Amino acid sequence: MIKISRYFVKVSAILFLMVCFGLSFCYGAEEGRLYVIGMGPSGADLTAPRGLAAFEKADIFLCPPYIQKNFAQYIDPGKVAFDPWEGIHGKEACQLRKTDYGKWLQKVEKRKKKVFNFVMDAIHKKKTVVMLDSGDPCVYGPSLYWLLKDFNHRYLEVIPGISAFNAASAALKRAMIGEGINFVMLTAPHSMFGRSFEKGDGLLKDLSKYNVTMVFYMAISSMDKLVEKFGKYYPTDLPMAIVYYAGYSDKQMVLKTSLGTVLDDLKKCDEKWLGLLIIGNAVK
Ligand SMILES: C[S@@+](CC[C@H](N)C(=O)[O-])C[C@H]1O[C@@H](n2cnc3c(N)ncnc32)[C@H](O)[C@@H]1O
Repeated sequence: MIKISRYFVKVSAILFLMVCFGLSFCYGAEEGRLYVIGMGPSGADLTAPRGLAAFEKADIFLCPPYIQKNFAQYIDPGKVAFDPWEGIHGKEACQLRKTDYGKWLQKVEKRKKKVFNFVMDAIHKKKTVVMLDSGDPCVYGPSLYWLLKDFNHRYLEVIPGISAFNAASAALKRAMIGEGINFVMLTAPHSMFGRSFEKGDGLLKDLSKYNVTMVFYMAISSMDKLVEKFGKYYPTDLPMAIVYYAGYSDKQMVLKTSLGTVLDDLKKCDEKWLGLLIIGNAVK
């Protein structure tokens, strides 16, 4: 029979306790975290597995009702705290932004504080907060642009998503770059021309010298003003396409048109928000 000395047993026990203590300390010291997840253009079949995996870690979700609805089977409603963009994003907020930009900005600041205080409180309690953004959070995602502008990167992880641009290009079944196209430009009417379309003429005139794929987010509701601007520098046969509900297997719709015909063609669809405008030879 093997003899084990008392001394050996004591040392082993102490070592074992030290390892346990160390492990529990490391585990306990783990920090809370905020994940901003790009949910893709439609449903879970176009969300990155890494994004969906982060759902399992979530103690708290911050998301708008439409994302909660699209991902109902992945989100425990009991864990949804609130819609972080309430009052600053969506139809009514857009209207307020147009009529009283200052008041809208005040609302944004108020919301930013609320979200910051809530998230930091959760992080200090070592919770994992998951904020859900449509498409890719770095492309016109209101979470990063408005709410988390100055958020400490130490606590933040961003998981990319498929942007409407990727889903729309796939719907068009065309390469957006290559074959003599110089570059792809992602923009929105207000980014390029200002909210009242008073800017951007010089830029558009310069762009007309190049073979560019121009992608406009949030463009359909101001198409008349866009047509007016483009009409100054481009011919009426400039190719345009609008992809509605890109990535939605049941609703996706492609409208191929041109600068001269787009305003008439737009009358075929009532949707004014979930459509992406792509302009250039790539969509010929
Ligand atoms: C606030 S931006 C959000 C963009 C988003 N972060 C992304 O990467 O796609 C909203 C605009 O994105 C475009 N968009 C978003 N999802 C779309 C979809 N499934 N089909 C077509 N356009 C979409 C529309 O132009 C819409 O007005």
